[in-house]
Amino acid sequence: MNSPHNAQEATSQPIRFYHRGEVVAVEGVRTTRSVLDWLREDAHCTGTKEGCNEGDCGACTVVLGELDAEGALQLHSVNACIQFLPTLDGKALFTVEDLQPQCAGACAAQSPGDGDALHPVQQAMVECHGSQCGFCTPGFVMSLWSSYEAHQQAGTRPSRQQLADDLSGNLCRCTGYRPILDAGQRMFDLPAVRLDRAAVVQALQGLRRGQGFAYAAPQALPEGQRLDWFHAPTTLDALVALREARPQARLLAGSTDIGLWVNKQFRDVGELIYLGNVAELRCIEQRGDALYIGAGASLEDAWRAIVRRAPTLADVWLRFASPPIRHAGTMGGNVANGSPIGDAPPILMALDAEIELRRGARVRRMPLADFYLDYMKNALEPGEFVQGVAVPLSAFARQVRGYKISKRFDCDISALCAGLAIALDGDTVASVRLAYGGMAATVKRAAQAEAALLGQPWTQATVRAAQAALALDFKPLSDMRASAAFRLQVAQNLLQRLWLETRASDPLPASATSVFSVLPHATA
Ligand SMILES: Cc1cc2nc3c(=O)[nH]c(=O)nc-3n(C[C@H](O)[C@H](O)[C@H](O)COP(=O)(O)OP(=O)(O)OC[C@H]3O[C@@H](n4cnc5c(N)ncnc54)[C@H](O)[C@@H]3O)c2cc1C
Ligand code: FES
Ligand code: FES
Repeated sequence: MNSPHNAQEATSQPIRFYHRGEVVAVEGVRTTRSVLDWLREDAHCTGTKEGCNEGDCGACTVVLGELDAEGALQLHSVNACIQFLPTLDGKALFTVEDLQPQCAGACAAQSPGDGDALHPVQQAMVECHGSQCGFCTPGFVMSLWSSYEAHQQAGTRPSRQQLADDLSGNLCRCTGYRPILDAGQRMFDLPAVRLDRAAVVQALQGLRRGQGFAYAAPQALPEGQRLDWFHAPTTLDALVALREARPQARLLAGSTDIGLWVNKQFRDVGELIYLGNVAELRCIEQRGDALYIGAGASLEDAWRAIVRRAPTLADVWLRFASPPIRHAGTMGGNVANGSPIGDAPPILMALDAEIELRRGARVRRMPLADFYLDYMKNALEPGEFVQGVAVPLSAFARQVRGYKISKRFDCDISALCAGLAIALDGDTVASVRLAYGGMAATVKRAAQAEAALLGQPWTQATVRAAQAALALDFKPLSDMRASAAFRLQVAQNLLQRLWLETRASDPLPASATSVFSVLPHATA
């Protein structure tokens, strides 16, 4: 039987998803058409707003529903501006229109006969004066709805700090946030209105595709028309075959990097192979003596698993972008993209992570520290892809810290990010890993500073020696995020902070800002 992913033989299938209570089938749109543009321009659902068009402001926040391996409905917020429409195939799309009174979609099934009543999220926003100019409001409402549904499902209530974390990807220039946080608490006091999950599950079951999904659309280019393919295999075997057969195609995971190439740089990304439907790639499990994180695991799930074993890393988790970005973006994408200011690589390097690469039947592993060759260059060969990362469990026995330095506290790219790990034998440094992002063309370990610490007593004098060695390890650049001098000074200061937090006498607490709000959830 022909696989639908053999591009020569495949026929294009319509993009099918559940939207406002019915299954929608879309054809003829380009493969990189954003969900936001489709909503506003094609479906004329203009409740969802466009602010930045790059995943930063949250005005375009929508909620996606999909079935997990057990067939249960999972909801998560994403930024519609950087999601490509074909990635919706088989999923449910919820927008602010789904919450309006008497809507034809999900909420008609939620609250039969409830006339003109607003959804509790909306009612709370009204009561608490959570909206002024209103431009950001649909995005906030959808982030709040996502939180509302999650907590109603779990029978819990979020703390104010948890709500603040949930809303960290939504910007408002008017309200000052307090009224919105008030609304986030108030919505749980109002009579509950729940999504009819059974109806959505039934619809999504009907959208399942046994053999994966292939979609093609003509793309107008100056030199003429070209047919662009979007392939979405559902098994690892199908992905491996497709990747080997089409090494020139671009791998697409969460599109939180690629979406910006399209929207901001107008790059032609050509043929796409989407990884998001390959269940094997999403796995997070203990394999032997390592924590294995599949490349397609969402950043949110991957960080949760890491923080469960190293709670001191909670701050980096919560300050890595925002919930919508972490729901869409993947650990594999962060590692493969290889930005020198990516936040996962320094942490993973400090944890001695290995990266697993796959091409055909060949699987090879290497230390993540060896994967990056030069600025945005890595060891991937044509036809190869990142299959996962493996973190030895022994690495969690060290004292691990992740320090993210950025201009804005929430949802900002790092000027510098440090992953630091140390194990002491009595007073002596028995092992040490110092990995920094933002200090060189790639994320890399500070070999000379590590050498200055290893085998030495863990004292202020030793720290001073390692700080001096850091200046030999790195010659950072000045750019819009920080000057070279600032970067070096901060990198050195973070060593001091590591010492203050891990010294034998009178250690300071590891001051992870939001750690107490997330720990109860860090159980996956
Ligand atoms: C608003 C915003 C905030 C952000 N904040 C942060 C932040 O705080 N810290 C940070 O580090 N990053 C941040 N990012 C960047 C981005 O979220 C991450 O790099 C993300 O992990 C990319 O993953 P993705 O799945 O979205 O990758 P995609 O965008 O789908 O792909 C990125 C690249 O990786 C390749 N790729 C993806 N998966 C694989 C694979 N399995 N094998 C081989 N190649 C693959 C793609 O071909 C592409 O070249 C932010 C982005 C936005 C838009
Ligand atoms: S429009 Fe700003 S995040 Fe999408
Ligand atoms: S109410 Fe005006 S931007 Fe939020």
